Amino acid sequence: MAYRIVANQLRTTRILNVKTESPTVKTFTFKDKVCTRAKPGQFLMFWIPGVDEIPLSILDANGDGAVSVAVKKVGEATQALYNKKVGEIVGLRGPFGNSFTLKRGRILMVGGGTGIAPLLFLTKKLASKATKLVSVVGAKTKKELLFIDKLEEICSEGNLVATTEDGSYGIKCLATALLESLLAKERFDAIYTCGPEQMMLKAFVLAEKHGITLEASLERLMRCAIGLCGSCVVGKYRVCRDGPVFTASQLREVRSEFGISKRDFYGKKIPLE
Ligand SMILES: Cc1cc2nc3c(=O)[nH]c(=O)nc-3n(C[C@H](O)[C@H](O)[C@H](O)COP(=O)(O)OP(=O)(O)OC[C@H]3O[C@@H](n4cnc5c(N)ncnc54)[C@H](O)[C@@H]3O)c2cc1C
Ligand code: FES
Repeated sequence: MAYRIVANQLRTTRILNVKTESPTVKTFTFKDKVCTRAKPGQFLMFWIPGVDEIPLSILDANGDGAVSVAVKKVGEATQALYNKKVGEIVGLRGPFGNSFTLKRGRILMVGGGTGIAPLLFLTKKLASKATKLVSVVGAKTKKELLFIDKLEEICSEGNLVATTEDGSYGIKCLATALLESLLAKERFDAIYTCGPEQMMLKAFVLAEKHGITLEASLERLMRCAIGLCGSCVVGKYRVCRDGPVFTASQLREVRSEFGISKRDFYGKKIPLE
């Protein structure tokens, strides 16, 4: 409880490092003691002074308090953060939400877009536990593929598979098409997925078909991040507090909304793009 209260307190920090990952994505590193215990799947509410506060997944957090997030510029707040330089001040609350459970055995990761950020953090934690660790990462084009070099360092040879829709890198197909062919050939014990919801829905359907455990990290509109405002509701769950990571059995319970709808800023149900 005390940890939750501390986590929800707004802290300010200076940006220590900025790295360009793609034409639209940058990684920001800063120090924050509260995040030392952060786990893969958890997220921060990131305050860009004078602009807005937005949820961002934790890309990495280690014992010395260094934390990083990856941000894709899509609108006002993410663009403002994207433009920030080393030394500038930002604010944060968190870490919030649950985390992926660290399973053993033969593990399959499926990620797309900035969804690869929490999966990279998870991959680092699972590397010593898994008997086999295969990562499938997808993007529209080579330029948009994220963290390939870092995943290559962790996954042993042949176990990182990149897909692009235009064939500019890796295999020309959707990440889920590759997932389908992998599952037809090989047995896995668990699937972890994060990325566009249609991709995660397809991964869920395939996991159900093959009887494999799955965990997926959902994105919904977040404001309070502590379960009070209801912006992030999916069925009986609040994504900020009960998630963002959901098991296949929880996803079955919210099947009428998963991959189908979300809430807008007024709480109205609207179709997912
Ligand atoms: C748990 C979680 C983890 C996330 N992790 C990352 C990450 O690691 N990297 C990253 O680049 N993005 C991440 N996002 C998405 C990111 O929060 C949105 O892209 C950002 O809030 C957009 O703000 P904006 O002002 O730039 O764009 P806007 O123009 O305001 O919005 C663009 C779109 O972003 C979404 N969005 C806007 N505000 C919010 C909000 N308060 N909460 C959730 N979604 C919102 C809506 O779908 C909206 O249509 C995450 C979202 C969630 C819920
Ligand atoms: S963001 Fe307020 S209840 Fe989840």
